[in-house]
Amino acid sequence: MVNEERRKFLGICLGGITASAAVVVGYPVYRYLAPLQKEHAAGKVVIPEQEVPAGGARFFEYAGSTAVLVRKQGGDLVALSAVCTHLGCIVQWEKEKQDFLCPCHAGRFSSEGVVISGPPPKPLAKLPFVVANGVITVG
Ligand code: FES
Repeated sequence: MVNEERRKFLGICLGGITASAAVVVGYPVYRYLAPLQKEHAAGKVVIPEQEVPAGGARFFEYAGSTAVLVRKQGGDLVALSAVCTHLGCIVQWEKEKQDFLCPCHAGRFSSEGVVISGPPPKPLAKLPFVVANGVITVG
């Protein structure tokens, strides 16, 4: 009788430990594999215009990835995904050359995101934006 109760108790303990281990291991795996949550995917990013000087770039997080605003020397703004279309590295803005360099395989993109040289197969993705009252809203 005592042995049966002990077995039952140990079974409950073992079940609890197994369930806890499944949550501890399974939750991070789920979060990694689950698609982006809607509020991140549909979110807008607001950046003051003065943070993007002429000839400069401002990187930011957008929809779970890295994006960039560029103000060309002439004053025009461009919003792009900063994810290289070759293998997904984040491009860097080269102010002296006024273009983007991908550090992984030396892919080069114009300030408009057009491929200049290297292995990238497509231009950087353009992002929609509006400018109003000194604020740039991307998304
Ligand atoms: S990942 Fe950018 S050039 Fe290869």
